[in-house]
Amino acid sequence: MKAIILGSAAGGGVPQWNCRCSICQLARAGDPRVLPRTQSSLAISEDGESWLLVNASPDIRQQLSATPELHPQYSARHSPIAAVLLTNGDVDHVAGLLTLRESTPFRLYATTSVRQAVDANRIFGVCAPALVPRLSVTMGDMFQPVPGLDVEMFAVPGKVALWLEDDSMKIGEATENTVGLQISAGGKRLLYIPGCAAVTEALQARISGADVVLFDGTMWTDTEMVEAGLGSKTARRMGHIPLSGEDGSIERLRDVPVARRVFVHINNTNPILVDGSAERMAAEASGWEVGYDGMRITL
Ligand code: MLT
Ligand code: MN
Ligand code: ZN
Repeated sequence: MKAIILGSAAGGGVPQWNCRCSICQLARAGDPRVLPRTQSSLAISEDGESWLLVNASPDIRQQLSATPELHPQYSARHSPIAAVLLTNGDVDHVAGLLTLRESTPFRLYATTSVRQAVDANRIFGVCAPALVPRLSVTMGDMFQPVPGLDVEMFAVPGKVALWLEDDSMKIGEATENTVGLQISAGGKRLLYIPGCAAVTEALQARISGADVVLFDGTMWTDTEMVEAGLGSKTARRMGHIPLSGEDGSIERLRDVPVARRVFVHINNTNPILVDGSAERMAAEASGWEVGYDGMRITL
């Protein structure tokens, strides 16, 4: 299988339109230490013909333009994207559906609760259900959204999308609201987990032995946005486990055997984005790669 990280940043991208944090400023200035990054999305295929798009980011138009594998190949209207799958209902994962209108068919897969959020919002009707059937996936069921890729969704600790939060909102429960994907083909196994609030023993067991894990790299510390004066929310409040610290993802996955581990969904405040930073070096010394737009992984 071939996976392409279309977008390696969290919501907002790098640089974010309204952000003057030190990392966004470096990216804006063209400093070679900080690559610009678009918002969270992955494309994956077994045969190189039919592609599964995992999450449709607000930057999808730019991402597709930058990716020759996803350009139209045949007849007057065509797209290699045969299916789109949503891992949650966050804006950075669903807004790109609006760009995928224009009457090209594909199948849309999501859990029932994420699907209901899309169904409840009439603007997504621009992807007309006659051309874009919406399919509910039950967690634990194996399905083939495109030929040759066996996909299974599993719940990870998380929360409902920010725009759906209400008083009943709970953080950290593993429900249909936030899922990870296991994608298998040819005896290889890739896990895609762009949002995750905690690394539980169940998740460690799920990841163990995988060929690749692409994992939530949102923030280095729980409080980095607060400390930078950019808001009041911690990483955990946003449903993202920080990378560093005793309870962080690097430590919680340290002893879990995985051939390759790559951070994705990286927020613009995360110092691992700066090549040469102490945090980048610490992550790399722990066996992690920092995902970037256009990164291709062949298994
Ligand atoms: C997140 O990953 O926490 C969300 O994308 C936040 C948002 O909707 O901006
Ligand atoms: Mn996000
Ligand atoms: Zn910033």
